[in-house]
Amino acid sequence: MMDLYQMKTIFLLLPATLLSAALASCASIKSTQPNVGAILFEENCQRCHRYAEDLREPKEFLKRTVHYGGMDMPSFQSVLTLEEEDALATYLSTL
Ligand code: HEC
Repeated sequence: MMDLYQMKTIFLLLPATLLSAALASCASIKSTQPNVGAILFEENCQRCHRYAEDLREPKEFLKRTVHYGGMDMPSFQSVLTLEEEDALATYLSTL
């Protein structure tokens, strides 16, 4: 038979457990691609392209441009991994 102390413990722990589960799922949402892309934009592109919205282009075009560079734009193939290029292109193309 549960005593009062045990019951209190259960009722105090249950909400805490649910809350931490909810927070954990938020944290995993935060680490999905668009936010990684936003950080990559700030770190690599913003100094020349001030607004991410200006680079809203088809994903494949973005990947190609970032990888190979342009006339005056530097290539990022030795700066970013293919995965990062993909995350960045996903972010910009879906703005
Ligand atoms: C050193 C400055 C510089 C940096 C850093 C830079 N760009 Fe560019 N970018 C340019 C210039 C200049 C052009 C104009 C076209 C050319 O050079 O061929 C351009 C053109 C582009 C274009 C094609 C034209 C357009 O406006 O749609 C895209 C897309 C693009 N950049 C995306 C990026 C992304 C994404 C990054 C970050 C990984 C980035 N750029 C970083 C200078 C830069």
